[in-house]
Amino acid sequence: MLDSPPMDASDALRILDEEEGRGAQAFRAATTLDELEAAQVTVLGRKAPFSEVQRALGAMSEEDRRSLGKAVNETRSALEAALAGRRAELEGEAETALLEADLVDLTLPGRRLREGSLHPLTLVENEIVDVFMRLGFTVVEGPEVEDDWHNFQALNIPPDHPARTMKDSIYPSVPGRPDLVLRTETSAAQIRTMQSQEPPVYVVHPGRVYRRETPDATHLPVFHQVECLAVDEGITFADLKGTLEAMARALFGEGRRVRLAPSFFPFVEPGAQVEVSCFKCDGVGCVVCGNGWIEMLGAGMVHPVVLENCGYDSERYTGFAFGMGIERVALLRYGIPDMRLLVDTDARVLAQFGAVA
Ligand code: DAH
Repeated sequence: MLDSPPMDASDALRILDEEEGRGAQAFRAATTLDELEAAQVTVLGRKAPFSEVQRALGAMSEEDRRSLGKAVNETRSALEAALAGRRAELEGEAETALLEADLVDLTLPGRRLREGSLHPLTLVENEIVDVFMRLGFTVVEGPEVEDDWHNFQALNIPPDHPARTMKDSIYPSVPGRPDLVLRTETSAAQIRTMQSQEPPVYVVHPGRVYRRETPDATHLPVFHQVECLAVDEGITFADLKGTLEAMARALFGEGRRVRLAPSFFPFVEPGAQVEVSCFKCDGVGCVVCGNGWIEMLGAGMVHPVVLENCGYDSERYTGFAFGMGIERVALLRYGIPDMRLLVDTDARVLAQFGAVA
């Protein structure tokens, strides 16, 4: 520029006029925001003819400066308006393109999510635990790896009791701990509860238990039980029977009856085998029950020796306890013919049970 002759007022006016047209056209020609930015540099940038006119103003006479100044301002306003107009258009287009890329066809069929379901054992365990929670019992879980004292001695199971043999119990091999045993019954949790709290005690212990069993239609080496324990002043056998009836009705329907036959468990005295009238034939006899009654669980009045083992005064307190296998209830409940189906991984079996609540 230094080489070219100085710009006079009429050159400047001509350039302003040309630039106004050229600029508007350049902005219109831009098809993206990037292109528009480039056009802005060529039209309004430092090296653009428009900027040269502005710079040339300084060397002009006072009079020229005044009239040209006004023209410069008008041209700048016009160019800036054209630029802003085009920018708004392009931004609108960019937004529309984004929306279009994001467009969802609402008429397409949805993707079906496979819903999980609770395992039948979980369903039955929840149901049993719910019955007791409604009766005011608390749920407490105990450890699955127990020691000899909690699993046997405290429960009044003498050293020569058959349950202790390698044939029935599973002993984990932990160096230095020959006393450990995988709990063979949830009754062991009763001991821990009584050791850790004073009466009154109203608890249920759901949990897994382990025995050396060969799996068949009615046995599994790992299965589940729910144990119930109540210890208070004045608890009687009638309380036990009433609680069992309430549970039988809640699980198997109104009208269920409960009957008890004498039985032996080292940790209760007297002990009983509990049967519930069949939910199918109501005591008449059918394929489900045989003779009208379904053997459900073991129960009894907590043995005074057990109370004393846990530091309870057996003269002052009495209690009842019972324990039942959940697998058996699930088989009856859902008409499942073989216990092993519960631990198979066949999703078709599991899918038949209740959806996740
Ligand atoms: N623990 C016993 C079993 O596994 C069941 C049982 C019987 C639990 C009598 C009790 C009870 O609490 O009083 O076969």
